[in-house]
Amino acid sequence: MSRLSGDTATGKSSKRSTSTGKSSENALRRETVGIDDISVYIPKLYLPVTGEFAASRGIDPAKLTRGIGIERMAVPDVHEDAATMAAMSLLELMRRANLKPEEIGKIYVGTESAVDEAKALGTYVIGMLEQVYGAGSFQDCATVEFKSACIGTTQALEALSYWAAAEEEDKVGVVIASDVAKYPLRSAGEYTQGAGSVSLLVKKNPRLIALEGIFGSFTRDENDFFRPLGATTAVVNGKHSNQCYLDAMQGAFDAFAAKARRKGVIVPKEGECVTDFFSHLLFHIPYPRMVEYASAAIFEHYWQGQARWKEVEAEIGAEPKPGDYESPDKFQAAKSDYSRQFAKSKHFLDAFKSKVLDTTSISRLVGNIYTGSIYLGLASLIEQERVKSGDRLCFGAYGSGCSALVFSGLVQSDAASVPKRDLFQRLERRTQIPLADYERLHEGLKEKSIIAPSQEFALTEIDHQGYRHYGWIG
Ligand code: CAA
Repeated sequence: MSRLSGDTATGKSSKRSTSTGKSSENALRRETVGIDDISVYIPKLYLPVTGEFAASRGIDPAKLTRGIGIERMAVPDVHEDAATMAAMSLLELMRRANLKPEEIGKIYVGTESAVDEAKALGTYVIGMLEQVYGAGSFQDCATVEFKSACIGTTQALEALSYWAAAEEEDKVGVVIASDVAKYPLRSAGEYTQGAGSVSLLVKKNPRLIALEGIFGSFTRDENDFFRPLGATTAVVNGKHSNQCYLDAMQGAFDAFAAKARRKGVIVPKEGECVTDFFSHLLFHIPYPRMVEYASAAIFEHYWQGQARWKEVEAEIGAEPKPGDYESPDKFQAAKSDYSRQFAKSKHFLDAFKSKVLDTTSISRLVGNIYTGSIYLGLASLIEQERVKSGDRLCFGAYGSGCSALVFSGLVQSDAASVPKRDLFQRLERRTQIPLADYERLHEGLKEKSIIAPSQEFALTEIDHQGYRHYGWIG
């Protein structure tokens, strides 16, 4: 995030950016805030959705691999929960960045899989990390939990970026996303489950991505997806949740585009539209196919009225017009059908392949990790070396209930110096479990871990008061 309004965060003007910053401001050295590093923890167990799972649920495997976009779901073992996964991704981040506990000023945790109704998940995480770094080593660090379904982590990132910009003692902040995505067995949500944690190091002058300080929001009260107190699985109104996601994303995108224009950061000229300014667009990934729906809706919206739309029309015909239909319902049905044609058009599919598809590669192998999914998309791009210095990225986060937040960031010149994480190789080393083990784990019927914990944090006991005990298992 630039601390001077109207500046681009790379410190050099991007080809497509317009700076309205006054010359005296431009002369000042700009300090950016953003994501310096990212770490990912995914449980060691997985269930393939083809084979035994698809057969037992009576589903054509092609529906899951193409219609939903999923191949494998990550499954937490008996000793794992949102707190252990968060501690694992934080430990990896600290080791990667050679961070000492006293250098961290804030740990904000985004989760909708809280392990306690009152106690912050981050305090359990600090308790675990102190078993490695020493008792009291995190006592100067503040922690708080952000709950807003899958958007909690992004709200935390926005809040932490303001804190980091104002921080005067050069402390850094960490945002942790950690979730277990869980729906009832044999429900339509079941094949979109997953689990994992992502930690983001947020600081001034980041090596990876400088935030541009432009956030566009959209919020509306909805019942698309929720988990009443005491329930262990989410209640979901599936198709409605897809529509809420699309409405909220469009609203937040419009708010972002208007703000970016007002600040002079993204000012499309004749023949350009806002999506042209992004090298990659990262959307929340409840399942990879949803990202295709979201991209189609956003590209269709912004391309309409542009010269290129003539080429789209040459491929799929002209848009339906209200006057050509005898009722509003028939017009709406024709519009939906037209949008489906657009989503299959060569123009859209080319843009989708070059700007969006690669964000979903890890999610295909992991499933939904709720509030961290969009950052799994970022890790996916980075691991596949799809981002380069100067690229502008667009992030579109969605949280059921519902709200969306769209923001942008610029890939920094030091990005290539940040070591890779070998995520794809690590995912290949996981252990496949049979359907029966998955179902027993899901229902809480397994007492012993499938893989005994080693070199990791583990839940060791829930005592008579409901307090959770965690340990570092060497
Ligand atoms: N081969 C290939 N494709 C097939 C197929 C086959 N044999 N059979 C069906 N398909 C296709 C369908 O045609 C459809 O694609 P199109 O949209 O292009 O037509 C696709 O597979 C999905 O099939 P359905 O329409 O039958 O959908 P479903 O009943 O399986 O439900 C779901 C899908 C609503 C996502 C359900 O899995 C669900 O409720 N998931 C949990 C909620 C969720 O993830 N919502 C997303 C928005 S909310 C959010 O983002 C927050 C969050 O993280 C939860």
